[in-house]
Amino acid sequence: MKVSVTVNGSAIEAEIWPLLRLSGFLRNALGLVGLKEGCCEGECGACTVLLDRKPVNSCLMLAFQAQGREILTIEGLGKADLSGLQQAFLDTGAVQCGYCTPGMILAAEGLLLANPCPDEAEIRQGLAGNICRCTGFATIVQAVASEAAARQGMGR
Ligand code: FES
Ligand code: FES
Repeated sequence: MKVSVTVNGSAIEAEIWPLLRLSGFLRNALGLVGLKEGCCEGECGACTVLLDRKPVNSCLMLAFQAQGREILTIEGLGKADLSGLQQAFLDTGAVQCGYCTPGMILAAEGLLLANPCPDEAEIRQGLAGNICRCTGFATIVQAVASEAAARQGMGR
């Protein structure tokens, strides 16, 4: 079957196996390997992408379910330079092994699109579906708060 989607701003049409997961389509067919797969059952959030500006676990969707929709992966977030959120993760030391980071950043981006001024509890709630085994989360929360403040013109 065929699927037509927009990925990181580009229109894509591809022939797919009907049971291909969205995560496999993005990683294997399109080569967007910034997307990570951890559990493949909706528990870890490593495979998070934005679908029409909302975070989803791409391992839980079939590629054809994204028909006609807009997908953002980490490759589309900071194309020439790092995005503000990516820079904030670096600045606060919110990246260690980095495996969770693409999904975490996209979950955070989705949170900030829906709620530009989240408090700490809302940040933690917004990232509750994303597991990090390394950082202890404090620096991640700090990074998201810092980027939210920067977007409100309050500096870092
Ligand atoms: S790989 Fe999708 S939630 Fe873990
Ligand atoms: S930085 Fe290693 S899992 Fe998050």
